[in-house]
Amino acid sequence: MNILLIGSGGREHALAWKLAQSPSLEKLFAAPGNPGIAQHADLVTLDVADHDAVVQFCQNKRIDLVVVGPEAPLVDGLGNSLRAADILVFGPDKAAAQLEGSKGFTKDLCARAHIPTAGYVRTTNAADALAALNDFSIPVVIKADGLAAGKGVIIAETREQAETAIRDMFDGSFGEAGAEVVIEEFLTGEEASFFAITDGENVVPFGSAQDHKRVGEGDVGPNTGGMGAYSPAPVLTPALQKQVMEQIIQPTVDTLAAEGTPYSGVLFAGLMLTDTGPQLIEYNARFGDPECQVLVMRLESDLAKLMMATAKGDLAQTSAPDFAPETALTVVMAANGYPGTPEKGGQIRNLARAEREGAKIFHAGTAEVDGELVANGGRVLNVTALGSNATEAQAKAYAAVDQVDFESGFCRRDIGWREVAREQG
Ligand code: AMP
Ligand code: GLY
Repeated sequence: MNILLIGSGGREHALAWKLAQSPSLEKLFAAPGNPGIAQHADLVTLDVADHDAVVQFCQNKRIDLVVVGPEAPLVDGLGNSLRAADILVFGPDKAAAQLEGSKGFTKDLCARAHIPTAGYVRTTNAADALAALNDFSIPVVIKADGLAAGKGVIIAETREQAETAIRDMFDGSFGEAGAEVVIEEFLTGEEASFFAITDGENVVPFGSAQDHKRVGEGDVGPNTGGMGAYSPAPVLTPALQKQVMEQIIQPTVDTLAAEGTPYSGVLFAGLMLTDTGPQLIEYNARFGDPECQVLVMRLESDLAKLMMATAKGDLAQTSAPDFAPETALTVVMAANGYPGTPEKGGQIRNLARAEREGAKIFHAGTAEVDGELVANGGRVLNVTALGSNATEAQAKAYAAVDQVDFESGFCRRDIGWREVAREQG
């Protein structure tokens, strides 16, 4: 089959690398892709906001399946436009992608389906939001409703911070995303991510992971898209995963199907493991980045076949995904300045030598200029390794990191610390 992959980050490089191993793949195209993805795909220039152009490309190149990496095109309805032209898509339609596109939508769905999640109020103006604050204890969580590139969540430690966050959001500091604001009860516990693949009706688990969102070692400093991750997350025990499937994932899929907006693609659940059980913090309508990198490192099944079955609604007839029991761990190498303004153009060398340490390096934000590889984004490389446990995977990943020559970059040296500490008792 011919596949078009949409996106240009480390997540998409990992998907391209795995799709390229599929016996059923004939040709892979990627729009826009990156130099790492170019090892597996023909890169094409397409404006993904121009749905007609994407449809036309798919018809010209006889594309059998479109795999959408990032959330923005899904929330924008690219899935609808492709399906309307009889093109199969891995990723939900616009209505179901509201699970990521609107936090209020997800909270209301949780309320209808009795899914465990933090208590909340949706508000559409500052006066209502400020009044609603009285019903919450401090700390309290203030969220811009829409897509805000991971920046729309404020954990307010004081009432003043909460009021400032509310005013900022309604004053437009998060653009359209802040036109609505969700106020949420603050949950405590350990966070973990759970993934499931669904064709709208059938659901199969697709592994667990934990990431490190803060830029600094020891999980301090500003939030980022994720500085590293590992899979599996043993805190999500088989019993807890069963509970998450039964109490969170399945009711979500069933409710969306019953309401006529079935969800097709991957569901990425951000969970808080509280004393009273797992609660849903948020949904994403796509794979995590860099969680995807560690999931596909462990995936033993044919990814193209699985994605095709999902898109066709054939998951019930397909064997469930198989994962290696090993731990995969990825270290993000970022450009100096990230998550502020990252320095662009810094030279990157010695990736082949680094991979000889037993790691796989996914390109996240790189470009090729005059035949040289340079940094071209905040998160630049994802150095990913498999080991018998987190300790071994971490050692292998950092052995490779140490071989990479990227002077204008940095990484955290403690990715996986929680799990490594548990392993070392
Ligand atoms: P989100 O963008 O919804 O994933 O939120 C970003 C981060 O904010 C999460 O990963 C959590 O660390 C934190 N967070 C979000 N909602 C809550 C909540 N209700 N209680 C505690 N922490 C939260
Ligand atoms: N790493 C978190 C995310 O992809 O949303």
